[in-house]
Amino acid sequence: MPGASSDLDTPAGIGSSGSLDDAVTVDVEAFDTIDVAAVKADFPILSTKVHDRRLVFLDSAASSQKPVQVMAAMDEYYETSHANVHRAAYTLAEAATNAMEGARAKVARFIGAAVPEEIVFTKNATEGINLVARSWGAANLNAGDAIVLTQLEHHSNIVPWLQLAAERGLEIRWIPLTDEGKLDLQDLDRILDGAKLLCLSAMSNVVGTITPARHLADAAHAAGALVCLDACQYVPHVRTDVTDLGCDFLAFSGHKMLGPTGVGVLWSRLDLLESMPPFLGGGGMILDVTLDGFIPADVPHKFEAGTPPIAEIVGLGAAIDYLEALGMDAVRAHEIELTAYALRSLTARFGDDLSIYGPHEPDERGGVMSLAYKGIHPHDLSQVLDQHGVAVRPGHHCAKPLMRVLGVGATARASWYVYNDHSDIDVLADALEDAGEFFAF
Ligand SMILES: Cc1ncc(COP(=O)(O)O)c(C=O)c1O
Repeated sequence: MPGASSDLDTPAGIGSSGSLDDAVTVDVEAFDTIDVAAVKADFPILSTKVHDRRLVFLDSAASSQKPVQVMAAMDEYYETSHANVHRAAYTLAEAATNAMEGARAKVARFIGAAVPEEIVFTKNATEGINLVARSWGAANLNAGDAIVLTQLEHHSNIVPWLQLAAERGLEIRWIPLTDEGKLDLQDLDRILDGAKLLCLSAMSNVVGTITPARHLADAAHAAGALVCLDACQYVPHVRTDVTDLGCDFLAFSGHKMLGPTGVGVLWSRLDLLESMPPFLGGGGMILDVTLDGFIPADVPHKFEAGTPPIAEIVGLGAAIDYLEALGMDAVRAHEIELTAYALRSLTARFGDDLSIYGPHEPDERGGVMSLAYKGIHPHDLSQVLDQHGVAVRPGHHCAKPLMRVLGVGATARASWYVYNDHSDIDVLADALEDAGEFFAF
């Protein structure tokens, strides 16, 4: 497997300077390669055709495809074990409860949680971040308190804080970006001074930047702030250990990591979760209810009101099995190699006609590439690519503040995962060429 070249031609894109050493490095030579042909065979959707062309799916940053193993696990659950979980004394309900709690233990192991009770199942990452804002934030943040975000955040990690800030009179401070789309930490000490919380993305869904989460967590803790990581783009792609990351909260979604939609995870330390009030009220989250009040259940059930997405949780467990069988270091090494290939081949082919936003070095970014090509509107570009069977996403990618920093309204974003290979990048390049000719005037 070729390594992440450090002598790549500098891709077109924003600026040139970088200020940070990235915290996540993988020696791409050191790990097993992924047998992409075998992986592709596990994803029936990749054998389908679009406009009579092979589907080249390059939108995994929005939502990944699902292998047969995940779908089979969910089918098997419904065929053999479905009943509502907890509070039941019959065999089937016990089987369903065991299936769900078994998946909780898998998630805990996958991210290095101390105990399964630190795993709260949510609907998605968005709900996890809202839980932090509405529960921890509402209990701990008061008028005049400062929280810190960065300019590369997804709306899911901006809007909940804007809402809370408006209600509570909070100050929001923003970590700016360098020209290369990395965090500009020159002013970090001042920005963190007196802040109560730092909440940031571990990997940008637009420019791919992997942020130096550990460095920032240490700095935030030294300033007395807690740290919440939006790990929606990180957990699916990088071996994750919450202790190594040094964060206090970590949120992610199952559907971006080969799992089904409808399930996400919020991790936090047990003592912190225990100190927080419930988020949503209802069945499943109480020990007792009287006409005057209620006593919440223990963690994590305190935060899981209502019937949980049981089959989806089982599917997430199967997705973790699949990723672990590939090996997360191999997943990351594959992604770095593919990113290096894309940077190298697209830059060589299109030169200044193509802008690729984000860090220049493949190992400083995830497999996400926002593109601007020959002034063609990203929506038009994506439609022409679709005619070639290539699925890329145009738009603001739910990161409008970042779009304003980049000085664009939208980009066309290609993103890859374990089932993509060089041939997919080559089809993308051919399709781009065709779009260039189509819109030539
Ligand atoms: C960085 C980041 N954060 C949060 C989200 C929100 O994820 P979900 O819609 O699954 O809650 C996304 C989804 O694209 C994302 O990329």
